Amino acid sequence: MRRPMVAGNWKMNGTQAEAAALVGGIEQGLAGVRHAEILVCPPYILVPVVAEWLSGSRVTWGGQNLSAHKSGAYTGEISGSMLRDFGCSHVIVGHSERRALYGESDQTVAEKFRAAQSVGLVPILCVGETLAEREASQTETVVARQLDAVVKLAGIAAMDNAIVAYEPVWAIGTGRTATPEQAQSVHAFIRARLAQLSATVAERLRILYGGSVKAANAQQLFGQPDIDGGLIGGASLDVEEFLAICRAAG
Ligand code: PGA
Repeated sequence: MRRPMVAGNWKMNGTQAEAAALVGGIEQGLAGVRHAEILVCPPYILVPVVAEWLSGSRVTWGGQNLSAHKSGAYTGEISGSMLRDFGCSHVIVGHSERRALYGESDQTVAEKFRAAQSVGLVPILCVGETLAEREASQTETVVARQLDAVVKLAGIAAMDNAIVAYEPVWAIGTGRTATPEQAQSVHAFIRARLAQLSATVAERLRILYGGSVKAANAQQLFGQPDIDGGLIGGASLDVEEFLAICRAAG
């Protein structure tokens, strides 16, 4: 059985005070969440305080991005080992906002994926098509290309220590969620594609759905056979919404 996971991607949001209220609220409401694994991904600058607040908690924390490089003259960048130094267990790689706004190519994303694993971080690899690509019936082609770039560089065995998040770009922050059937169909495609290389790895891999997940639609999405939880943006900034989503998964 794959253990469900709910990961909160705070994006570029939150003061220290807001983060403290959010983390405190999540901690207090966890009793109703049975076995789902809960992760929060704050902006880099909040990682140290979040790490302090969550030390000893069942909630883990991670980064939203990392450098593909180990260390050195890369002004403004943060390495995987720095995230590890502050107790991060996971890191998001290849979020569509990084791909679209910061020009991250499939190759860059693959290198970041490998950099994360090389220091013991579990990468959460985001894949997903734009609206134009979906309308041109390119969804599977795009997702396959994004996935294959990582598998080509890191190898299929590396997927055993990774999580994939299917996030259709048209559903992110738009309030327009993929239907459970639309999401399930892409999740099943991802699993089947990896199963061509290793049935065991594919079966064990957790595939999260992301894109306008809310308390109101979480249960239906998570009820699909190949959806193993969610990567939550906007709704992860609201304690009650986030907890309700965690309960739906757990
Ligand atoms: P959203 O974002 O839940 O606000 O749509 C999801 C994401 O970008 O990970």
